[in-house]
Amino acid sequence: MQDAVFREIHGFYGPVKAQRFEADVYDCEVIGEIPAAVEGSLYRAGPDAFYPTLENDVVINGDGVVSEFRFTSGHVDFKSRYVKTERFLKQREARRRVYGHYRNPYSDDPSTEGTDRDNTGNTYAFFHANRLFALREDSHPHEIHPDTLETLPKWNFNGKLKSTSLTAHPKIDPVTGEWWSFGLFAHGKLNCDMMLHVIDRDGNLVRQEEFQTPYAGISHDFAVTREHVVFGIMPLTVSDDRIKSGGPFYAYDPELPACFGIMRRDGTAREIRWFEVPQCFLGHIMNGFTEGNVVHVDATISPGNAFRFYPDVNGKPTDPSHGIPTITRLSFDLSNPENTYTRTSFANATGEMPRLDERFAMAPYRYGYIKTRDGVARLDWQTMQLAVHRFADPADSAQEPVFVPRYADSPEGDGYLLFVVNRGSENRADLVILDAMNIEGPAVATVKLPFNQPGAFHGMFVARG
Ligand SMILES: [Fe+2]
Repeated sequence: MQDAVFREIHGFYGPVKAQRFEADVYDCEVIGEIPAAVEGSLYRAGPDAFYPTLENDVVINGDGVVSEFRFTSGHVDFKSRYVKTERFLKQREARRRVYGHYRNPYSDDPSTEGTDRDNTGNTYAFFHANRLFALREDSHPHEIHPDTLETLPKWNFNGKLKSTSLTAHPKIDPVTGEWWSFGLFAHGKLNCDMMLHVIDRDGNLVRQEEFQTPYAGISHDFAVTREHVVFGIMPLTVSDDRIKSGGPFYAYDPELPACFGIMRRDGTAREIRWFEVPQCFLGHIMNGFTEGNVVHVDATISPGNAFRFYPDVNGKPTDPSHGIPTITRLSFDLSNPENTYTRTSFANATGEMPRLDERFAMAPYRYGYIKTRDGVARLDWQTMQLAVHRFADPADSAQEPVFVPRYADSPEGDGYLLFVVNRGSENRADLVILDAMNIEGPAVATVKLPFNQPGAFHGMFVARG
């Protein structure tokens, strides 16, 4: 007999319950005034499991939902749609879960054989060359209609894409308009194959290079500067044997250093130089830039495994205190043959989901933004001061903050910070807009949703008008 379809599963009936519906809210309730600069769409993507997963599965295995706050002359309309992946449709047809653990095909119902089991499109709503995509790091992008949010076919650049995966943390070059990307486990095998991909400003795949990583570990994010590319391999390792025996997809190996591979943008992947950094785990990049011979990478760094739901390679549970991320600057000196680096943390900048004023990506910059345990914060790299917007209700929690400039050529940091806040006491969510130069102050505007929003991972603001 099969298990019951709906059961009490951690994360499914968790603090923010899976919503399991698609929404349209025309003319959302707005408190305050939407700034004239905020004209366009905030797209976000995240997981929202339509059917309960197996016990002990991870939140990143949830079905992708793309949502949009559309701002039109001070009015806001909200829309959310599941990404209609092969996996989603198959389960919907079966009216139950038929896929097993995260990236473990050995745990699936036999009826799923040969289907695209992993591509949930749940990680980043990414807009480039007038097209919207739902990204997931082990798969090809699903294209999403930017007005209806309906799912369009998967996109492989007219068959040109050689990698089976594209990172969910691409970088857009604000100068050239290029989409820089990479593919980990590039040929679908859990090994050291990795590829670099560059897409030009018109959406054409113009560069692909293959290389080998020092070991088969996670690479969730990367940095691109005006002169260099920095790949990061973290000691959350993979093993086909482990998943075959029912173990987790990733396991932390405390013996391994983090490895950072640096190449020139105008060089080749054959010239990647690998730097080893012990007791280092990188989650997300805020920005990277090159100064002379030194390449700086600003990122959320913890001393150990930041993915606390994965054990170590010996099956020991992760100590959560090892995974607390602090914004840290890693500076790699390319002029020193000893592969030296410095590691400097930003005082009190503990948090995640780092972003910046993306007009200043890849170059020296001043301001960055993170969500913290009880609010959001702005980092000023010039004064090394942290400005914090704290929530009054300890049950509130922020999602990723996204910056919108006040006008096209406004000075760096002059604009607005947009982020969803889960109102834990009300089982509801708001979109909050702060003045980014006065984030300690009250919200400029609050867009109220009559329901909650599961944690989305990453999104993008697309200006219109
Ligand atoms: Fe991410």
